Amino acid sequence: MSETIIFFHDYKKIEIKPGITILKAAIRANVHLAHKCGGRGACLTCKVKVDDPTAVSPPTNSERQKLGSALLQQGMRLGCQAKIIKSLKVEIPEDPLKAVIRKQLAKQKEDQENF
Ligand code: FES
Repeated sequence: MSETIIFFHDYKKIEIKPGITILKAAIRANVHLAHKCGGRGACLTCKVKVDDPTAVSPPTNSERQKLGSALLQQGMRLGCQAKIIKSLKVEIPEDPLKAVIRKQLAKQKEDQENF
């Protein structure tokens, strides 16, 4: 049985079999999802937001410790820990440093247009 996973930021869809992690699905889809600790649940770089918490496995102890209940309730999960059960949409949060740079560039462009 195949399921569909959709990555918002890259607008990519991939058909996968249930039971693999979001990180492995991202790698198969050629979607960049950082994973500095190699998928051991230690670095938080694979943090994603899922639209349906019931579409993935229950949080692991590592996720409970690293993310805490507030982020888990918001749908945040560790891509290397959460296994896909059924179709879902996954949002990969923008890197905070890239977000700052993007905002500064947008402001510069706006200032140049208004000059
Ligand atoms: S890859 Fe490090 S926490 Fe998931």
